[in-house]
Amino acid sequence: MSFTQAEPAPARLNRSELAVPGINPKLFEKAARSEADVVFLDLEDAVAPDDKAEARRNVIRAINEIDWGAKTLSVRINGLDTPYMYRDVVDVLEQGGERLDLIMIPKVGTAADVYALDMLVTQIEQATGRGKRIGFELIIETALGMQNIHRIAAASRRNESLHFGVADYAASTKAKTVNIGGPNPLYGVLTDRSEAGARDFHWGDMWHYALARMVVAARANGLRPVDGPFGDFSDAEGYRAQANRAAILGCEGKWSIHPSQIALGNELFSPTEKEIAGAERILAAMEQAKREGKGAVALDGKLIDLASIRQAEVLVAKARLIARR
Ligand code: GLV
Ligand code: MG
Repeated sequence: MSFTQAEPAPARLNRSELAVPGINPKLFEKAARSEADVVFLDLEDAVAPDDKAEARRNVIRAINEIDWGAKTLSVRINGLDTPYMYRDVVDVLEQGGERLDLIMIPKVGTAADVYALDMLVTQIEQATGRGKRIGFELIIETALGMQNIHRIAAASRRNESLHFGVADYAASTKAKTVNIGGPNPLYGVLTDRSEAGARDFHWGDMWHYALARMVVAARANGLRPVDGPFGDFSDAEGYRAQANRAAILGCEGKWSIHPSQIALGNELFSPTEKEIAGAERILAAMEQAKREGKGAVALDGKLIDLASIRQAEVLVAKARLIARR
């Protein structure tokens, strides 16, 4: 290990993160009773400019009055380039009670964006005597944000997670998309001809670079990487495929833009019984090896070493967190 150690963000489940428009309070109670690990009440893109003040009032009432149970509760504020952001932060933190856990900052472009918010939130916390420190979720969804992602990830001790905002990212990079967060069937490679003269077209994942880059920046700074929206909520199979590839790369979870995506997120970002049993066997085998003074052993014909233990420990720790839920 390096002598440089990132301090891990507070341990929270983040398998499913439900987006709820702040202008639609009828959805709040249902969101609170859902199985989502995290709920974010949205003041940004789901709210039209004329509705911003009303949505802000709804969200403040919801923080104060609704029983959010064991959920992590977040509010997505407006961007730093808008005339709404300062009031989102001031009103929500001054008038919304201590139940709020996180603020989600959209379209973060530079480390200074995070610094500015940190300064504002710190002043409000000090002035109002808020007891619970607010954490930050940062959406990486512009070319600028992706360029500066490593500095952004390290910009504040409030940072807890990075989110891939694929819809705005596509707009910012001028990528050609078909469905929010899905593949584009034209993005792929054509194989050389086989002996029989046949060629295959292999679809690729046009988001691979962005997602993988975000996972590295997040993990290097002790943060949770979270995959963003999948727009076609009637396509559970499509959601599964995109969520699985995010989980395989190391993401902690994925957004749910519709309640039907919550159970899928919880399932796909939880270790399976088989994976947990496998991890426990690895830990037991390594305990045995330690007693016998060995650094590495074979289990089921495969090498198990200290890196395998670390992977197994991560998996078992997540399973425990889920079991406590
Ligand atoms: C989320 O905000 C996105 O733009 O995908
Ligand atoms: Mg966005």
